[in-house]
Amino acid sequence: MTKNGNNSGKPDWYEAGLDHVWLPYAAMKDAVPLAVVRTQGSRIVLADGRELVDGIASWWTACHGYNHSAICEAVQRQLAVMPHVMFGGLVHEPALSLAQRLAGLLPGDLDRVFFSDSGSVAVEIALKMAVQFWINSGQRTRTKFIAFRHGYHGDTTGAMAVSDPDSSFHSLFHGLLPQHVIADLPRDDESDAALVALLERHADDIAGIIVEPLVQGAGGMRFHDAAVLKRLRALADRFNVLLIFDEIFTGFGRTGTMFACEAAKVVPDILTLSKALTGGTLPLAATVANEKVFGAFWSDDPAKALMHGPTFMANALACAAAHASLDLFANEPRLAQVAAIERKLRDQLDGCRQLPRVRDVRVKGAIGVVELDAIDNLAAMRARFIDAGVFIRPFENVVYLTPAFTISDGELERLTSAIRNIVSAL
Ligand SMILES: Cc1ncc(COP(=O)(O)O)c(C=O)c1O
Repeated sequence: MTKNGNNSGKPDWYEAGLDHVWLPYAAMKDAVPLAVVRTQGSRIVLADGRELVDGIASWWTACHGYNHSAICEAVQRQLAVMPHVMFGGLVHEPALSLAQRLAGLLPGDLDRVFFSDSGSVAVEIALKMAVQFWINSGQRTRTKFIAFRHGYHGDTTGAMAVSDPDSSFHSLFHGLLPQHVIADLPRDDESDAALVALLERHADDIAGIIVEPLVQGAGGMRFHDAAVLKRLRALADRFNVLLIFDEIFTGFGRTGTMFACEAAKVVPDILTLSKALTGGTLPLAATVANEKVFGAFWSDDPAKALMHGPTFMANALACAAAHASLDLFANEPRLAQVAAIERKLRDQLDGCRQLPRVRDVRVKGAIGVVELDAIDNLAAMRARFIDAGVFIRPFENVVYLTPAFTISDGELERLTSAIRNIVSAL
């Protein structure tokens, strides 16, 4: 099957390789991805010379913009010394000092860091950590989780099972997935009471509650407030289950504070991080446990060890990138930049409210969302954004921006005006 043999004007590697590669979330028969040759700051440079202003920061990772010199130099220095060494039985300075640094940045006693290499895997580890916490504590029946409608925690099997079962990402795979308890977020008394009833019914089975704090990202860019998280903390305490915050999207400034849990003033028992951890440069993830969770694994009994170990966990290049990224947060006004982006997004997207097909406009930190009644032709809308010189990837009924925090005023204005123009032409 060689559908892609007719992309004239594309580089040789595109013609030769596209018939052999398989892209994510794409019907390959019709897939015509853009050929990228370079990135810089908030720009993506295409093989045909066009330059797009990036509104997505590569799935929300490149928070300092692409190719930040401080991160590139840190990775190069580490590359000369040790790109990677296995983490089983061996440790190294970039990983240990990064663990210590993350523990220092995170609130409460979230002090014990388990590294991995992607967000989904960090979630898998969080789930296993919670289940094994109960096994190590003598309770073998607690293998289920409470998770939320519109939640998204990744594409691996365990992570899918705690995501919204009806989402387009996962609905095909019902038969494959372990069954958990899917609830509505406790936003009001009624949904709170429904959640209490579920916790009562499943009292002996539930290991924990997993939630994306403040923003449900890939499930529709839906926001909730700190009160929801406070309720979840109270319920987790009342029913003696663990509380897991998935901060893979929200971590590292995206919602306005370094971590969403800080703004909510709620400390979970386990927290996951990835995406912007390395400033979007290299894959790295972390599952961070508090003292209570870690305490159940503190034993002379080898059977109580956490049974997980990804080959590339704590990759030294990725740890070096993460240190450089955290240095940038410490030394440059990133959170002030997020606050400024929030103000500008509010100003510049507000006009979309009046447009006929717009259902909602919302902004939190460096996340701007224009929710429509429906998008009839996603591919056509994505193409219109490219023609307007911007890279914006609407999904379902949502057009959103998650730009780099270093984006210039002019670039941000190009993104928001493209949204206004294209949505108003619908
Ligand atoms: C909240 C959340 N959790 C987990 C994941 C999965 O991360 P990854 O794609 O690195 O596996 C994502 C990815 O979008 C996410 O947004």
